[in-house]
Amino acid sequence: MRAALLLLLGLVIGVIGTVNAVNALNARNPMPHAVMVTMDYHMGQLARALKARQCDAAKIRQHLGRLQSTATDIVPVFDLSEKPFNDAAGHLQGKIEQALLAAPADCTALAAALKPIGGACKSCHQKYR
Ligand code: HEC
Repeated sequence: MRAALLLLLGLVIGVIGTVNAVNALNARNPMPHAVMVTMDYHMGQLARALKARQCDAAKIRQHLGRLQSTATDIVPVFDLSEKPFNDAAGHLQGKIEQALLAAPADCTALAAALKPIGGACKSCHQKYR
């Protein structure tokens, strides 16, 4: 009986140990995930505004601004020191900058501004994701 209990205890501890190791691996650097998810959120909000045909200039500006500041974290956070990757991040920043300068104030302008940004996300993903 005692041996059986000890065996069971050993198994349970073993399972807990494995789960903790997996969590530790995922938690090692949550930042790349966090940066991408944050950008995805702001792109998603802009896409929703477009879909709902509620393209408010101030809200657009706010989401584009958050997109811009988050995009500046890509290079330091991924820390790949790979030129094509860093160039792709720079390309995205350029597109966001253009969108901010265009200051979209209606849905047509927002759609036009989002297209190249989405393209910049996609082209890096095709290569690196
Ligand atoms: C310079 C390259 C690059 C650019 C530009 C880029 N991404 Fe990513 N993205 C990646 C890589 C690499 C991954 C995979 C990250 C990983 O698995 O750790 C990724 C993953 C993601 C994910 C999945 C996140 C996760 O961990 O579940 C989302 C969502 C995402 N990107 C959204 C975006 C959006 C939105 C944009 C544009 C506004 C964008 N990305 C631009 C490189 C890029």
